[in-house]
Amino acid sequence: MFFHTVIACYIVGSFFVMGISAYHLLRKNEVDFFKKSFKYGLIMALVATTLTPFIGHKNGTYVTSVQPAKGAAMEAVWETEQGAPFHILQIPDPDNERNLVEAISIPKLGSFFYTNSFNGEITGLKDIPADERPPVNLVFYSFRIMVILGLLFLAIAWYGFYLDRKDKLIDSPKYLKTTLYSILLPYVAINLGWVVAEVGRQPWAVYGLMKTAEGVSPISLSQIIFSLSGLVIFYTILIIADVYLLIKYSKKGPDALEGVTEGGMKHVS
Ligand code: HEM
Repeated sequence: MFFHTVIACYIVGSFFVMGISAYHLLRKNEVDFFKKSFKYGLIMALVATTLTPFIGHKNGTYVTSVQPAKGAAMEAVWETEQGAPFHILQIPDPDNERNLVEAISIPKLGSFFYTNSFNGEITGLKDIPADERPPVNLVFYSFRIMVILGLLFLAIAWYGFYLDRKDKLIDSPKYLKTTLYSILLPYVAINLGWVVAEVGRQPWAVYGLMKTAEGVSPISLSQIIFSLSGLVIFYTILIIADVYLLIKYSKKGPDALEGVTEGGMKHVS
């Protein structure tokens, strides 16, 4: 989880650098500077997006072994099965404990994804008491979209590498626009990952030992409202300041560095 989360943050950072560089390259601002910064972002994106599916897979097999209900919900597996297939197209129907659609299936791949063995056994949700299952749809779709985004980031990074090798990066406005419009997507993927991890282990706070409901502290509603409002107000102010500064300095480009010495100290003029 630690490595997956840290590398996910590198994807956020690298896509941010590529997107802002693309913004300036599209306007032909400081082309040499932003070509270079795009490449720095691209190198990081290539490493991070290539590692992510492997580390994510390792995460998936581990989490399925210790939190089987989460693994079953991530893939909407209802029956315990050995050598389970992977359905590229799948629509779960939790009310009827089945999948409404299972199409374009690849034999045994589901078992491989979750157990590292093509004949491994995946525990189905029907073998887990109904009150010990997480909300299937939320976990399933969050997981699917996170993985689809991960594959999209991989494709964007490697296509960028291909264009760069051909020296066609700045002559590809469509590609530059794609990277610009992709800036927010890694943030979405990170939050979906968090939903998978946290909603996926419900109703447990400590899996199999202590339910989340048992962890509720005996505090009053007014205390909760007070602390929650404080957090919401504080983080709203922070995010407004953060977005404002990011946009301001991203638009400025290298001009933002005016008056900055090599050591990073700003001259007071
Ligand atoms: C490409 C394929 C991917 C796979 C197979 C994968 C797999 C997983 C799995 C199995 C978990 C749940 C782990 C647990 O509950 O212990 C997880 C969580 C997470 N994933 Fe992914 N993931 C992928 C892509 C991504 C991408 C592209 C991002 C973001 C850029 C991302 C960010 C996260 C985060 C932040 C968490 C949870 C962190 C937390 O605990 O709050 N993942 N991922």
